[in-house]
Amino acid sequence: MKKTILILIALAILGIVTLGIINLMVGIPVPASYASIPATTPEMEQAKAIIGTKCQMCHSHDPGVPFYAKMPAASAMIGKHVQMGTEMSDLQQLLTDNGEDEVALAKLEQSIKLDTMPILPFLAMHWNGKLKASEKQALLAWIHQVRAAKYSTGLASTEFESNPVQPLPDAWPGGVTAAKAKLGNRLYHDVRLSGDDTISCASCHDLKKGGTDHAQFSTGVRNQIGGINAPTSFNAMFNVLQFWDGRATDLADQAGGPPLNPIEMDTNWEQVIEKLTKDAELTKLYEAVFGTSQWNDQNIKDAIAEFEKTLITPNSALDKYLKGDSDALTEAEQMGFALFNEHSCVTCHAGKAMGGQSFEKPVDPKAYYAFRGIDPGEAEFGRFNATKDEADRYKLKVPLLRNIAVTGPYLHDGNITDLKEIVPIMNNHFVPKLNRKPLSDDEVDMIVSMLIKNSGRLNGEPI
Ligand code: HEC
Ligand code: HEC
Ligand code: HEC
Repeated sequence: MKKTILILIALAILGIVTLGIINLMVGIPVPASYASIPATTPEMEQAKAIIGTKCQMCHSHDPGVPFYAKMPAASAMIGKHVQMGTEMSDLQQLLTDNGEDEVALAKLEQSIKLDTMPILPFLAMHWNGKLKASEKQALLAWIHQVRAAKYSTGLASTEFESNPVQPLPDAWPGGVTAAKAKLGNRLYHDVRLSGDDTISCASCHDLKKGGTDHAQFSTGVRNQIGGINAPTSFNAMFNVLQFWDGRATDLADQAGGPPLNPIEMDTNWEQVIEKLTKDAELTKLYEAVFGTSQWNDQNIKDAIAEFEKTLITPNSALDKYLKGDSDALTEAEQMGFALFNEHSCVTCHAGKAMGGQSFEKPVDPKAYYAFRGIDPGEAEFGRFNATKDEADRYKLKVPLLRNIAVTGPYLHDGNITDLKEIVPIMNNHFVPKLNRKPLSDDEVDMIVSMLIKNSGRLNGEPI
């Protein structure tokens, strides 16, 4: 009996060694779909070559896998790694998109910095699979090139010019049409957008309350209570899509939602237009902007969206620090920002607004919701509600961390008010296992102290 086991072990070792040698000689096949991705710069060409030989096998919707991957024992394990790896990061897609995915870039960068990839079972079979220092440098060079070209606001100091978090610009990059924004401001605060003239956008996104209502759930018409926490309208224009589940493509699309929502404003456009048409003064403003006195819903949404482009909150202490003013943050707060980077918070809360660029699920949704004491329902299904794609179930839009000190209560269920509670939840349930390192209470305090220095200015006034 013992002998048989020993023979089996010997055979397994022999198998691994043989495959290891074969792998050294032949490498992993690169499928045509990968090989044909056009590389637009020499940096991208290099990154593509490295990812092609060392990563694409587990990070592609059309992976090229070694010949033995089809053998029963190997195929189960390799299949699982390919599925998990690709679900977390589709590097073939990232290259196809010319690198234009802020979060995927930040995750790739973090995997290189923390040296987590490729995973150990791969390295056991692929002895030259580890990234060499020169390869890491080449991958980082491509990431930084894309970030500088596509995402940098050009405001960060040299130290932070390649950081996934960038200072907010002073104004909306595309410019704002002042008269339209002024009209939008009036409409944003106009209760006639609700059926019984009691609720405006500002009821739930109050400019004096950080663009929120400070409630767990919002109160709509006839005191009806919603089922998901209202995110801030500040900097919302930087979200890739709007709402926790991303069902609205942009702010104008989003602004069409609440008026028709029976729990929120419960009206219809005919009713709204009838009321606004009677307001001669406002109609004059409208006509000056749109060249007609005929109100329509598209223009109303358009004007509100234009106003929301002014809800940008630059010049927080954190931004001043990123721009090079090292006195803007205390030493502990600076450490907090470093920890935010080291502990991978920055991979999801990336970009100018520190979030809003991707939909993410907890590492183990069951464990997260059990811990939170929530029986997952529609609110928790998140992105799945909009796409009906099973892979999107439990993915929520990553909230923006700008002005976080004044946008509580937190999380989609608005059930936590203390940021010190959130940070460990994030580390234990959202930071991927391979990246996860314990956070001490002191470190949590430093991260929180940095986060609350993140309140900017709205039209020059402190939030
Ligand atoms: C044998 C399969 C395999 C190979 C090869 C591989 N990975 Fe992974 N990768 C995985 C798995 C599995 C995960 C999920 C890990 C976890 O559970 O945290 C992952 C996760 C990731 C993530 C997501 C991290 C996050 O923050 O969400 C990135 C980025 C990544 N890998 C990059 C790479 C790069 C770069 C390479 C090549 C140098 C590589 N991987 C090679 C299997 C692989
Ligand atoms: C009764 C409260 C209420 C009213 C009124 C209301 N909202 Fe909201 N708003 C919410 C809630 C709750 C959400 C999140 C809903 C979801 O994601 O499913 C939200 C989401 C948003 C978002 C998306 C933010 C993000 O990060 O995804 C924006 C922008 C927004 N509202 C702007 C507006 C505008 C503009 C109006 C007026 C036309 C308005 N809201 C009226 C409660 C309200
Ligand atoms: C894998 C992506 C991911 C990572 C990594 C991550 N977060 Fe989050 N974060 C989210 C998502 C998604 C939510 C919303 C969760 C919910 O509502 O249940 C969130 C919510 C938050 C909130 C509450 C924001 C609000 O307005 O409700 C804070 C604060 C926060 N994260 C900080 C952090 C910190 C600090 C870290 C690092 C320790 C971190 N996050 C790491 C995705 C991530």
